[in-house]
Amino acid sequence: MAFNLRGRSLLTLKDYTKEEINFLIDLSETLKKNKNAGIFPKNLENKNIALIFEKPSTRTRAAFTVACTDEGAHPEYLGKNDIQLGGKETIKDTARVLGRMFDGIEFRGFKHETVEKLAKWAGVPVWNGLTDQYHPTQILADFLTVKENFGKLKDIKFAYVGDGRNNMANSLMLGASKVGMDFKIVAPKKLHPDKNLVEEAKEFAKETGATITITDDVDNGTKGVQVIYTDVWASMGEEDVIPQRIELLEDYRVNMEMINNADDEVIFLHCLPSYHDDDTDMASKYPGIKEVTDEVFESKHSKVFDQAENRLHTIKAVMVATAGKQF
Ligand code: CP
Ligand code: NVA
Repeated sequence: MAFNLRGRSLLTLKDYTKEEINFLIDLSETLKKNKNAGIFPKNLENKNIALIFEKPSTRTRAAFTVACTDEGAHPEYLGKNDIQLGGKETIKDTARVLGRMFDGIEFRGFKHETVEKLAKWAGVPVWNGLTDQYHPTQILADFLTVKENFGKLKDIKFAYVGDGRNNMANSLMLGASKVGMDFKIVAPKKLHPDKNLVEEAKEFAKETGATITITDDVDNGTKGVQVIYTDVWASMGEEDVIPQRIELLEDYRVNMEMINNADDEVIFLHCLPSYHDDDTDMASKYPGIKEVTDEVFESKHSKVFDQAENRLHTIKAVMVATAGKQF
């Protein structure tokens, strides 16, 4: 069933119903099939899309750019040093200017409040490409990957292991509560999510039959699960706490023991970028920084590159549904 999402922003999945989330994932599947068949309906023809980045990005920037091009839109990258946002001009004014010229705005940055202000004042759809608190477009790609592997989202046993209070943990918990998953955050107590957000997720869970569990017990937390997900231990902007995080999270590194404790068909997911071997500058400096072993990352369980590709199809679906001509 098609939903009319035209004009809507995507700041967090809190604002979307289970049906709307499932619709976006179904639409992503259709757009993926179309692209693979060489069908490009140009749902965003003649649109201009602003891509604002305060933080670096490979996947999100690439996905928005390629999705725009596939659908006939013009993407314009606006880096943090290229525009006045918040420095010489208020966010409110920048939003009102960009809204007069662009048909949609993606924002990646630090404060979640910034993307909220943009959405309030731009008058066009604003999409959150990651803030310190949330990363909603990533969740759509993650769930599309889960659906491709298990044929459904409801009742999937899903464990997120690692930094339990970052943007990924927050967003996965909200997404899981909306689609009815059996969801666990497995993290040391010091890195458990904000209690109010857990309560909010549990309220959504009441409507969908989801279960939300927060635990520091790796063995129980990963027993029999179908998905093991992790993320870096220090997010962008937290580089100064890397040594403390390594100390806190060493027992939460995703390894083969965890995989063997999970369901036989378990898949491993990671939003990427990932530290899993010694071939990055950061891993050379901090060898203990690896949140997953190379063995798991390179194993048959790992679906991380399908997941990365799915950023393109899901981001395209969000733009087409909210700013496109057809839906
Ligand atoms: N997963 C993700 O958002 O990757 P980038 O930081 O490369 O955009
Ligand atoms: N938690 C990570 C996610 C990167 C996609 C970060 O914010 O850096």
